[in-house]
Amino acid sequence: MKAVFVTRYGPPEVVEFREVRTPAPGAGEVRIRVLAAAVTAADWRLRSGILPRGFGVLSGIALGFGGPRKGILGTDAAGVIDAVGAGVTRFRIGDAVLAFPGIAMGGHAEFLVMSAAGCVAPKPANLSFEGAAALPFGGMTALDFLRRGQVQVGERVLVNGASGNVGSAAVQLSKDLGAHVTAVCSAANAALVRSLGADEVIDYTTCDFAAGKERYDVVLDSVGNAPYGRVKRVLASRGRLLAVFADLPAMLGAAFVGGKKSHRVIAGPASERVEDLIRLTALAAQGKFRPVIDRRLPFERIVEAYRVVDSGRKKGSVILWLDPRATLAE
Ligand SMILES: NC(=O)c1ccc[n+]([C@@H]2O[C@H](COP(=O)([O-])OP(=O)(O)OC[C@H]3O[C@@H](n4cnc5c(N)ncnc54)[C@H](OP(=O)(O)O)[C@@H]3O)[C@@H](O)[C@H]2O)c1
Repeated sequence: MKAVFVTRYGPPEVVEFREVRTPAPGAGEVRIRVLAAAVTAADWRLRSGILPRGFGVLSGIALGFGGPRKGILGTDAAGVIDAVGAGVTRFRIGDAVLAFPGIAMGGHAEFLVMSAAGCVAPKPANLSFEGAAALPFGGMTALDFLRRGQVQVGERVLVNGASGNVGSAAVQLSKDLGAHVTAVCSAANAALVRSLGADEVIDYTTCDFAAGKERYDVVLDSVGNAPYGRVKRVLASRGRLLAVFADLPAMLGAAFVGGKKSHRVIAGPASERVEDLIRLTALAAQGKFRPVIDRRLPFERIVEAYRVVDSGRKKGSVILWLDPRATLAE
């Protein structure tokens, strides 16, 4: 099979296409023929080695020194089950699925083997394979943080970075939870975030939400420029900062936040649970969650895809298609 390898940290050009043996599923595993995959912020971090402040040595131990130990990156994929290992009952050959290998990676290849009990779910019939590949990373992260933040009906939620992959999911999922949502993005993305359900939009290029009069029950920061010290003034009593992007000092400091207003800071890696993936596919099937696609490029143009992701300016996901059927829903 054709796969993209990253063996040393560096710019988009470090990626290498290689022909390798197609993996066979073991007992309890399924093999997915990948029709579409996303290039996500996690892929960018693992390819570039650019990690939030303080994670250098820790990430070297966990992810690899000099280059990612994983070799084949790719957190999100969608395709068709083409082989099943012994004992698999959850899926059959021919099933259309989406998968979130997540930190295990492996989506940037023609075939992906995963545990049948892992983050694999039937693809909603109303999403193309490309749309399905755009769902997991942002959706799983936003869902996990909003749950940890215990967002309630009627609460005021501000999403910083609302046009990104995590942010665009957070806007939609907060609306589904019954929150009043303020989206922070540039003016160019205002119409997009309104179409996702945002009630208010703040253009960060002309207005600093942290200096405003509004108070928020929850601030979700997926940009990394809204640490607690900046946002505490606009957090309501019992307010929560969901620090999707947090460096190590901010993560360690989260435990010491509180004070008279009983604020909380929630940080750390999002969990990877198949129940969440299934819930997101159900919301997508009901039209309550629409994964945003910035652009779609053929697999061979992954360097170009990475350049867009590296810019930090993409809307939702950048999608690679490996097969012309990727645009189809069935
Ligand atoms: N904790 C975890 O487990 C976890 C999980 C997933 C992701 N993350 C981290 O979360 C971060 C976001 O990931 P992502 O995939 O959502 O990123 P992304 O899609 O690359 O975010 C890009 C978006 O950010 C917006 N943006 C840039 N600067 C901004 C600013 N100053 N104010 C408001 N919006 C701004 C851009 O909009 P404009 O073009 O309008 O500027 C663009 O639409 C990454 O650092 C990632 O590593 C953490």
